[in-house]
Amino acid sequence: MAIQWFPGHMHLTRQAIAERIDNIDVVIELLDARLPGSSANPMLGQLTQGKPALKILNKQDLADPDRTADWLAHYNALADTRALALDAGQTAPARRLIAACRELAPSRKGLSRPMRVLICGIPNVGKSTLINTLVGKRAAHTGDEAGITRTEQRIVLEDDFHLWDTPGVLWPRIIVAQSGYHLAASGAIGRNAYDEQEVALELLATLLRAYPSLLAQRYGLDVAAGLSDEQALEAIARRRGAVGGGGRPNLQKAAEIVIHEFRAASIGRITLETAQEYALWLAQGQAIDTERLARKQALAAAKGRRPARPPQAAKGP
Ligand code: G4P
Repeated sequence: MAIQWFPGHMHLTRQAIAERIDNIDVVIELLDARLPGSSANPMLGQLTQGKPALKILNKQDLADPDRTADWLAHYNALADTRALALDAGQTAPARRLIAACRELAPSRKGLSRPMRVLICGIPNVGKSTLINTLVGKRAAHTGDEAGITRTEQRIVLEDDFHLWDTPGVLWPRIIVAQSGYHLAASGAIGRNAYDEQEVALELLATLLRAYPSLLAQRYGLDVAAGLSDEQALEAIARRRGAVGGGGRPNLQKAAEIVIHEFRAASIGRITLETAQEYALWLAQGQAIDTERLARKQALAAAKGRRPARPPQAAKGP
């Protein structure tokens, strides 16, 4: 896959969470509603030791409402877990998260037993926006570049409700190939770290499968003709006048258009994955990873070196 994986300050964040977690009552994980499974940090379950969890499907204004409802039902069916869908910029919905945390840890209230909440999320998922909305002023930096990190900070949302913010990071290694493409398409990965044409082709393959009528509407594609992702990209280039010398389609320009218009929801409200699809990809990714580790161990044994450590178990969506 043509995506370079820069996990950022992962070790520092991991350490910060590990040190803080004993004194935390609820862990909020901010997810991207367009890719809930792929935007979930596989290390978090292990790090947070089964603490009550609030999953926030942010950017729900950009996501497919039917699929968001399915993902919410999926998370709400898990033990000690609640889920909400939000637009981080809107005050009233954002404050619902305070009520949801109070339901998850009802014994934490009053100045002597304040609610202590940790908030985590990948870069660009909207954590700064949400915190700014909650505190009603610009308390946390927002920006458009993936990978900007901040040191841990505590925010007092109510006298007896304290929120610890953590830097937005990715995890050390990706084992679900589709997740890499979905994260790149969403803007979670810095733009120099992936091949835009490859990401646009994967995006188009997903859209041709799950949202053909939106593609037809936006780009005038004849989806009934059974277009491939390559044919779709070429047709979009021609449709948008991205044509170079000799009439050749400019596929790079077309890829940038598709990615930009997906992010802006100009194609429509789209969710790239269902909980069932993601569970399948995760199982396949874990199987491939187990094989990879076995090969590595066999190689190390043959060379008489210490075998590689087993991978951390990745959590379901
Ligand atoms: P981070 O702290 O998790 O890294 O993310 P941040 O809040 O900086 O948000 C990243 C981008 O996502 C920002 O857009 C922000 O406005 C946008 N965003 C956050 N929440 C939502 C949401 O619920 N819906 C939509 N549609 N967008 C959201 P930007 O263009 O990078 O910056 P800006 O100029 O909008 O501030």
